[in-house]
Amino acid sequence: MINKKTSAPQMMHTSHEELERQNKRQSWKPFWHLIKNVKFPWLLIIVCIILNLAQGQLSLMFPQYTQEIYNGNFTVALAVTAVLVVLGQAILTAAIQCVARYTSHLNHMRFQNYIWRKLSRLPISYFEKNEPRDLISRTTQDTLSMSEFMSYSISYWLRGIYTLVMTVVLITGYDWRLTVSQFICIPLTYAIGVIAGRIYFKMNNRVQGRLSDATRYFAAVLPYLTLVKLFGQETREEKAGNSWLANQFKTQMQNAVYGLAISFAETVTDLIRTLVIIFTGLWLLREGAIDIGQWIAFYQYANLLNGNVRSVMAQWQALKRNQGACARIAAATDAEPEENTGKLNAGEASGNVEFKNVSFAYEEQNVLNDVSFTAEHGKVTAIVGPSGAGKSTILNLVERFYLPGQGSISWAGKDAREYELQSWRRNIGYIPQDAQLLSGTIGENIAHGVDGPVSRERLEDAARRADILDYIKSLPQGFDTQVGENGARLSGGQKQRIAIARAILMNSQILVLDEATSNLDAESEYNVNRTLKELSKDHTVLMVAHRMDTVRDADKIVVMERSRVSAQGTHGELMTASPLYRRLVELQRAGVEV
Ligand SMILES: Nc1ncnc2c1ncn2[C@@H]1O[C@H](COP(=O)(O)OP(=O)(O)OP(=O)(O)O)[C@@H](O)[C@H]1O
Ligand SMILES: [Mg+2]
Repeated sequence: MINKKTSAPQMMHTSHEELERQNKRQSWKPFWHLIKNVKFPWLLIIVCIILNLAQGQLSLMFPQYTQEIYNGNFTVALAVTAVLVVLGQAILTAAIQCVARYTSHLNHMRFQNYIWRKLSRLPISYFEKNEPRDLISRTTQDTLSMSEFMSYSISYWLRGIYTLVMTVVLITGYDWRLTVSQFICIPLTYAIGVIAGRIYFKMNNRVQGRLSDATRYFAAVLPYLTLVKLFGQETREEKAGNSWLANQFKTQMQNAVYGLAISFAETVTDLIRTLVIIFTGLWLLREGAIDIGQWIAFYQYANLLNGNVRSVMAQWQALKRNQGACARIAAATDAEPEENTGKLNAGEASGNVEFKNVSFAYEEQNVLNDVSFTAEHGKVTAIVGPSGAGKSTILNLVERFYLPGQGSISWAGKDAREYELQSWRRNIGYIPQDAQLLSGTIGENIAHGVDGPVSRERLEDAARRADILDYIKSLPQGFDTQVGENGARLSGGQKQRIAIARAILMNSQILVLDEATSNLDAESEYNVNRTLKELSKDHTVLMVAHRMDTVRDADKIVVMERSRVSAQGTHGELMTASPLYRRLVELQRAGVEV
């Protein structure tokens, strides 16, 4: 599983160039789409905006009081008002932080709720094409960035625009030469802001890209460290890991150098701007065109103006950055969900599962061709055939993980699509080829398919029938034993039997087993098969098995050969009618695994 692609940095594309290209031609559609679909706490967002505007308004008022005071019009009322304005600003800043933080966390949860709802309804085929790691970063990183944007940036941006417009209006009320001196400086601030924004944007993407490259490498290698050790490749992987880390360090250092250069340029611009105000102010003071109060007030307004130009631009950059996050989120949430137009409840029907002329392809090539058979209610139907013949695919279609390209699958005489999807799957106890467990306890895993509390008796009964009860009882914590991630603390056979117990407990009408007993010893397999035979009386059992001993007692055996049904019947019938079946049986008798 450790492929060369992940081990060699130069071969891997985390194409930030592509990301930058995408960001350039981003439309606003995904943004509006999310605004429409995510349940944002609008009232809180509006409160944030109002608080910010109020704070902006107070910041505009303060220089007027200082102007009065410097001009010698000092009154107690004026001083008290000035202090109140400063105090008001401080209180509003604290209030904005509280409300915006709360709103941001709430936004984050709503965003994740939305993504989670969408992702969990996407078809299996989507997850085969998209890496789970990327989807995780969408549900964590991208949503976090959008949530902060919705609570902080929008209100900062609106405050910035409001105070910017107001300062422009106020500044023009002063001597026109002072005003002109500041307007001359704006293009410089603007130019530095634009350049800085572009550089930050580019570098941010690059740093993120390198960071996710390194994370992706470690996430790909760490779970398979056993494999690395088996082949003595520790040194090679250590080198590969170090080279990812070195790449990451190099980009971070570049970022730091650019950051320093930008902050130097900003300091120099500020210095130039201040010098312009000082010299113009001194000249006008000497001429008697302005008084000292006006000069100081103007200086404060000029600082406000400058700060606001920067803030509006920074928030605009944040908006552009978040367009990228929006597009990535939308790419996942806009994917077509699983088709689920059926209305019937599959649990209320009972009968046979029937395949009629089913053909199916994962990609171009057909994996199933004109497959027809019936798995009868109250009977065990087995599917056998060489590896890659399409056996698991048949079971995938029964589960409706994929839809048939041609032909139909029916249950109790009605097309599968007429049944509501969740009721359909709940009606099937599926035991896959590689038994998957969720992290949690053994008891939780067995009860996974059942809603609400499950009594200890029912748990024990299901475990007994799956021949795992004795083992569970031998554990110090019994059903409360943690299984580890994907059942890492259990053996293959134990996992299989827990998966069988889970399916038995669901008590669904259809039982589907994909080599579910392949890891069991002979005695366990015998016990599980006896249970299956018992269950088949009032269930429809469809099983894929490699071991011919397992299938010989089945009521019907379907022989698959290169995507087609080559024969079907009982063991006795097939031994005479199907050369392939006879060969499979004879090979296995001779001890050759097929
Ligand atoms: N998700 C998938 N995407 C593309 N091709 C697939 C996918 N799953 C299976 N295939 C292909 O479909 C064919 C049939 O696979 P399937 O898993 O049904 O075989 P099988 O009969 O169950 O084999 P085995 O006995 O080894 O489990 C194989 O050639 C396989 O490569
Ligand atoms: Mg298979």
